[in-house]
Amino acid sequence: MFNKPIFILLSLLLPFTLLSENKGAVMNKYDSKIKALMKKMTLNEKVGQLAQYSGKNVTGTSVAHKADLELIREGKVGSFLNITGYANTMKLQETAVKESRLGIPLLFGLDVIHGYKTIFPVPLAQSCTWDINMLTKAQKIAADEASASGVNWVFSPMVNVSRDPRWGRVVEGFGEDTYLTTLMAVAFIKGFHGESLSEKNTVLSCIKHYVAYALVQAGREYWTVDVSNRTLWETYMPSYKAAVDAGVGSIMPSFTGVDSIPMTANKYLINDILKDKWGFNGIVVSDWNAIDELINHGVAGNKYQAGKLAIDAGVTMDMVSGIYNEEIPKLLKDKKISVEQLDKLVYEVLSKKFELGLFDNPYLYNDKTREKATVYSEINRQYSRKVAQKSIVLLKNTNNILPLKKNISNIAVIGPLAADKGNPLGPWSAKGMHNSAVSVLEGIKNAVSSNTNVYYAKGCNIKGDDKTMIEDAVNTAKRADIVIAVVGEEAVMSGEAASRAFIDLPGVQKELLQKLYDTGIPVIAVLMNGRPLTINWTKEYIPAILETWFLGSEAGNAIADVIFGDYNPSGKLTMTFPYAVGQIPIYYNTKRSGRPETLKTKHDKYVSKYIDIPNAPLYHFGYGLSYTTFEYSEISLSKNKIKSNESINATVEITNTGKFAGTETVQLYTHDEVASVTVPVKEMKGFKQIYLKPGETQKVTFTIMPDDLKIYNYKMEKVLEPGYFDVFIGGSSATKNRNNFEIIK
Ligand code: NOJ
Repeated sequence: MFNKPIFILLSLLLPFTLLSENKGAVMNKYDSKIKALMKKMTLNEKVGQLAQYSGKNVTGTSVAHKADLELIREGKVGSFLNITGYANTMKLQETAVKESRLGIPLLFGLDVIHGYKTIFPVPLAQSCTWDINMLTKAQKIAADEASASGVNWVFSPMVNVSRDPRWGRVVEGFGEDTYLTTLMAVAFIKGFHGESLSEKNTVLSCIKHYVAYALVQAGREYWTVDVSNRTLWETYMPSYKAAVDAGVGSIMPSFTGVDSIPMTANKYLINDILKDKWGFNGIVVSDWNAIDELINHGVAGNKYQAGKLAIDAGVTMDMVSGIYNEEIPKLLKDKKISVEQLDKLVYEVLSKKFELGLFDNPYLYNDKTREKATVYSEINRQYSRKVAQKSIVLLKNTNNILPLKKNISNIAVIGPLAADKGNPLGPWSAKGMHNSAVSVLEGIKNAVSSNTNVYYAKGCNIKGDDKTMIEDAVNTAKRADIVIAVVGEEAVMSGEAASRAFIDLPGVQKELLQKLYDTGIPVIAVLMNGRPLTINWTKEYIPAILETWFLGSEAGNAIADVIFGDYNPSGKLTMTFPYAVGQIPIYYNTKRSGRPETLKTKHDKYVSKYIDIPNAPLYHFGYGLSYTTFEYSEISLSKNKIKSNESINATVEITNTGKFAGTETVQLYTHDEVASVTVPVKEMKGFKQIYLKPGETQKVTFTIMPDDLKIYNYKMEKVLEPGYFDVFIGGSSATKNRNNFEIIK
């Protein structure tokens, strides 16, 4: 259960214009040691600390080449990415420590996005648990595994608030809401960093991608971003600020830009805001080759200029472009950058190496015994199963067709993803082993009684127009009492460089579903996908739908747990499912219109609506069913009127009115009825998770602080404007359970 006062969070949302206090660099515990070391370093050795190189095979066993070893010996490498495992990392670390002049240890980075070898649900799925502590624990496990295997730096979490499901990277984040994303970002960082970075089982985290990357126009990867100052500060900056305050160790600028300045060259947002105003003193690591890409962006004419722009912006480390190693010496010689600039960046890298404990023990993260015991352990996989269960969102369950009985006679498991052991791992599955996930077919076979017949047919491929397998699938379905149809996307259809213009079920999967439906045998759709899909037909005709995203190592078992009622689903969507691509961008906390569509204006022409589709989404933010039902009382408020420095309590009683015990996520939203600027129709301000047995009732109280209700006025000052405020509490963002109160001066 999460119960953090919301005013703490909202106090983090101060815009730049209000941040008068310059935190500056907090005195570093290792300051004298870092300075002493820097005194011994040559210019080239300093530059080397800012260079990051990659292992040569990103997906398989990544190794360094001979040339890389030579670079290490010369002190020209600060960090590697994509090199993992005791043997590989140990070899490089020993080379750095024993064979380079100053023996400075290396950082080893990796994209540990949802687990290392034990793969957890993709972050978008994890966000649907709404379980902050669970997220922390899952990342702790990921850190434990990665750090045993030589990794001491992870490029996670991704906190790009995502409102355009065409963009493939929505799968890496926590959905469309800033409040939720911010809490989850901090939860991830806590999990990675643990109590102290110098512990052997913790890793440096990296918040990414700074900032507003999810706004790529029309959802097209790496495309242009246009964001207003208000939207930037209201929606996108808060998660980064909260992460900095939570002590995040590094940050990655996005490939894209803000205000026509690519983030890798964005001096204002990196140097002025992040470092000077917020006091961030960790590593700003460029994205892959992003310094070089400043040339493609057209803001640098050559590598020399690109290097200068990145240094001036405050980018600490150069991921793979090689520009820092090549160009910094020339830039220094030409006095285009100063030694002070260089020293500041080197200091940032060394200070993280000290914090990680690498100078006390450079082999802290190379632990053969721990690697063997921890990585992919049974206990870690069991926790992954728990997270997977909680990530599943029940979208539809007509006549309580689910859960099924385990002694059902005949069950058909059909679909291109039904027996798949690879795709359920999802995109960005770090060192997840090839085809290592439990498939849905296996999960179901593990769960059912020994008398149950389980039939399988593939039905079709995920993509393409081959319909030849459909007939066999239909015949298989006809032998069964129930059909489980496992359909969706390939893992690589979401993640980086995976934008889609159409976001329905790919290939002929819809036709497969239609043919299965025509048999008259009840069909349960199990969806696997990395983004919200436009599944209108499925929603209308298929009686039960489970959104399972990509659930990781234990996917099939967790799905079977839900299908057979060993786990009562509790997931709630963190991204809106659009009715049609034409509604995108789509999110619950949209601003008001001068001509809103209401029940009254529904048939008028000149209102904000489409003439060919509804405004309403397919499924809204916060939505998710359970095998039981929860009834909410009206909202009672501790007062009707408060002064602008007072808080108010909003209370509801929730009763489990169904037959199963279950978890409910109680959601609080507010709305400023009349404000000096347009504000969202509803904004999440808190949530609490409760577990109720059948017939049980529980009271849930939220305390709303004045700060929670502040808005940015036209001067971008955060102010509380007296007047009436609506409070909504319910089981989703569509709740109509409302009360209101007044704030007087
Ligand atoms: C590119 C991606 O944008 C980023 O998220 C990732 O961390 C780096 N590559 C390193 O793999």
